[in-house]
Amino acid sequence: MNFTGKTALITGAASGMGAATAREFRAAGGQVVIVDRNEQLAAQVAGEIDAGLPVVGDVSDPAFCAHAVETALQRHGRLDVLVNAAGIIVRADALGTTDEQWQRVMNVNVNGVFYMSRAAIGPMKQQGHGVIVNFGSIWGSVGAAGVVAYCASKGAVHQITRAMALDHARDGIRINAVCPGEVNTPMLASERSQPVTAELMQRIAESVPAGRLAEPVEIARVVLFLASDAASYMTGAMVNVDAGYTAR
Ligand SMILES: NC(=O)c1ccc[n+]([C@@H]2O[C@H](COP(=O)([O-])OP(=O)(O)OC[C@H]3O[C@@H](n4cnc5c(N)ncnc54)[C@H](O)[C@@H]3O)[C@@H](O)[C@H]2O)c1
Repeated sequence: MNFTGKTALITGAASGMGAATAREFRAAGGQVVIVDRNEQLAAQVAGEIDAGLPVVGDVSDPAFCAHAVETALQRHGRLDVLVNAAGIIVRADALGTTDEQWQRVMNVNVNGVFYMSRAAIGPMKQQGHGVIVNFGSIWGSVGAAGVVAYCASKGAVHQITRAMALDHARDGIRINAVCPGEVNTPMLASERSQPVTAELMQRIAESVPAGRLAEPVEIARVVLFLASDAASYMTGAMVNVDAGYTAR
């Protein structure tokens, strides 16, 4: 795949799958604008792939999202691809989820995707083309115990994807979601009450039909495919990249 002359804005690009996606876009010749709230990690990834200064802030703030899109347009004169990878998880059932945790997950995972997409769709419509790839999850399609806010938020991401894809199908804008299974990123270990042991990792791997976790690049490659002209007839699709998790 060749993204020479194209610009991709990637949220959550300081870590995990967002960072892997940023690396793959650069390797494929594209310009990348790194957006993340983690300044230090964002600067590290941006430096590594020569992506210019990262745009640091919180995607749950609509003014910041408008600023991030504006920055991409000012720097590169165009915005071809938006990847919404920023996300957080809270691991609790309903009784264990505080109001603050519920709202935080919704603010980042749902509102962040909506605000970033809304900000990007205006200029994409003007250009007459654009692609958005949202990070959904297997847990947006099937339930999982002990992650109620996260499941709800990813279900909403899938529906935002479908609804926006229909709204903009005739504007030259394609909008899809990549839905990863269990991926070896810092999120896998985050928000756990106990440290992540080799035994826990093994149990998670065993829950996957293929018997292993994905590496971030295995998801990033699918994001690039969805963002490329090779996926020209795809919009409104939830693309599971889960080694069979949801096939059961
Ligand atoms: N790891 C998995 O197994 C898995 C599975 C399915 C889906 N996902 C989804 O994939 C996406 C990427 O996850 P990851 O595993 O690479 O996670 P990660 O924790 O490695 O990276 C997430 C990045 O998002 C950034 N971020 C978080 N909140 C933000 C905010 N409000 N504003 C700006 N940046 C913010 C973080 O700083 C971090 O750099 C997420 O949307 C996640 O929900 C992850």
